[in-house]
Amino acid sequence: MKSSPEVGQCPSSGLPEYAFTGRSNVGKSSLINMLAGNRKLAKTSSTPGKTRLINHFLINTEWYLADLPGYGYARASQKMRRDLGRLVGRYIKTRKNLVSLFLLIDSRHKPLAADISFIHFLGENRVPFVLVFTKCDKLSANLLERNLDIYFNRLRKTWEKLPPHFCTSAKNQTGRDEILDFIDKTNAEVKLP
Ligand code: GTP
Ligand code: MG
Repeated sequence: MKSSPEVGQCPSSGLPEYAFTGRSNVGKSSLINMLAGNRKLAKTSSTPGKTRLINHFLINTEWYLADLPGYGYARASQKMRRDLGRLVGRYIKTRKNLVSLFLLIDSRHKPLAADISFIHFLGENRVPFVLVFTKCDKLSANLLERNLDIYFNRLRKTWEKLPPHFCTSAKNQTGRDEILDFIDKTNAEVKLP
C-alpha cells in the first residue's frame, strides 16, 4: 500500500496492525509472501533502498501488515544501522494500532545478542510480540526442538511468561494457517483506541 520513511507518514491507523521484523536474511520477505499467498509481494532480493522504509500491506481490507526495516543489517554502515534502529524504535513507541510484533528468528541459530536485546526493548515498551522461527525445513525435528529449548531457556532468565511462538517454513508453507488463525482471532478481540 505504502512505503514510509517516517512513522508520521504511515497510513492512517484505523486498522489493527501486525509488524514483522528480524535480522537480515532471516526469511522475512519469504514469510510475508507465504502469508499473503503472493510470491511477488515482498522482494526476496534485498534492495538497500527498500530496507530503509516501513512498508505497509493492506490485507483483506481488515488489517495491516507492516514490514519493518531489519536491525543489524549486515551490509549497512554503522550510521544507517543506528538510523534504522531509531526509526523502528519510534515506530514501536508511537504506532497506536500496533497490535503485535512478529520477531523472526532463524531456527538454526543459537540466541543472538541483537535479538535478545531487541526482545528486552519490546518488553520495556510493553509491546506484545510473538516469535516466529523460520526455515524449519532446514533442520531435523530433534534439532529444532533442541534449539527451541535453548532459546526459551535463555528467555526464562528474564521473562516469567514466554511469548507465543510459531515454527515456519516458507518452502513448505509450514505455520501459515497457524499464524493467519492467530491474527484472525486477535483481530476479533482487539479494541483500538
Ligand atoms: P533481506 O530482506 O535480504 O534481509 O532477507 P529476508 O529476511 O527478507 O530473507 P528472504 O526471504 O529474502 O530469504 C533469504 C534466503 O533464505 C533466500 O535465499 C530464501 O530463499 C531463503 N529462505 C527463506 N525462507 C526459507 C525457508 O523457509 N526455507 C528455506 N529452505 N529457505 C528459506
Ligand atoms: Mg527481505
